[in-house]
Amino acid sequence: MKRVLVTGGAGQLGAALGRALPGLGFTPLLTTRATLDFDRPETITFGDARPDAVVNCAAWTAVDAAETNEAAAFRANAEGPARLAALCAAAGIPLIHISTDYVFAGDKPTPYSEADTPAPASAYGRTKLAGEWAVLAANPRSTVLRTAWVYAAEGRNFLRTMLALGATRPELRVVADQHGTPTAAPDLADAIGAVLARMRDGWRDEYRGVFHATAQGATTWHGFAAAIFAARGPAPVLHAITTAEYPTPARRPANSRLDCARLAAVFGVRLPAWEDGLARVMAEGAARPQ
Ligand SMILES: NC(=O)c1ccc[n+]([C@@H]2O[C@H](COP(=O)([O-])OP(=O)(O)OC[C@H]3O[C@@H](n4cnc5c(N)ncnc54)[C@H](OP(=O)(O)O)[C@@H]3O)[C@@H](O)[C@H]2O)c1
Repeated sequence: MKRVLVTGGAGQLGAALGRALPGLGFTPLLTTRATLDFDRPETITFGDARPDAVVNCAAWTAVDAAETNEAAAFRANAEGPARLAALCAAAGIPLIHISTDYVFAGDKPTPYSEADTPAPASAYGRTKLAGEWAVLAANPRSTVLRTAWVYAAEGRNFLRTMLALGATRPELRVVADQHGTPTAAPDLADAIGAVLARMRDGWRDEYRGVFHATAQGATTWHGFAAAIFAARGPAPVLHAITTAEYPTPARRPANSRLDCARLAAVFGVRLPAWEDGLARVMAEGAARPQ
């Protein structure tokens, strides 16, 4: 197993995988929307890529816009992945499909495990949950990795938004009643590489199913912002606000914390602490212009 087709190759996670996989002996074959577009089913093919495994990082990730574009989000997050999974099944190869904490309602007081019942509160969450079911149904060698609060030194994410706002505003109001785990794209890419390395030793039935994959620990958006500005001043004054004080079209889970014990037990994979992920991304140059 060597050739790994990565969809969404221009996104935060896809780009990180493009950098992480060669060091683990894999050849990443990155596709972008120009070459593999879930909105154009005829482009959902392997062409002459001959992959040995696929990682699906392509997705409709505009959470609020999904509320008024659910059909398009469903195409990208469920229908397209279903076709991709069917291609993988026909080729007899594994598919690692990336999903989200937003499949949960967020009202559980403790971290969510894979055994907890999903109950998405947003259109994005509904389409991502449909995608999980679709890939698991279409390919027996499907591994779904649910992650959360992904950010990188490039792309649209909370870290870069904070740095941009902090550069111009003396005070910021940041939500302090949503709990989750900031997960650095390069750390998640390393973890996916480690999962692929286990699969390279031979497929096992225990690899099929859903796994939670975030960094270790937890904080709030306010706590994350404070850590960002502690690492890269000058710090604006941060005001802790409630979700109710920052209304958005899509409802966010109050608790996004995911219990990642199953990933460790089955694959022997554990991501670093979220603070270490932040230090890594900052060192990569998070202040690059958007
Ligand atoms: N970001 C987070 O906080 C977060 C949290 C939990 C889970 N996830 C999941 O993690 C995965 C990777 O997310 P990310 O943060 O890397 O997202 P991202 O930076 O937004 O990248 C997603 C990529 O998918 C592409 N894409 C969108 N619609 C497509 C379509 N119809 N056909 C083909 N490609 C399409 C986008 O291309 P364009 O830019 O051209 O549209 C983009 O390059 C996704 O499955 C996401 O749902 C993300």
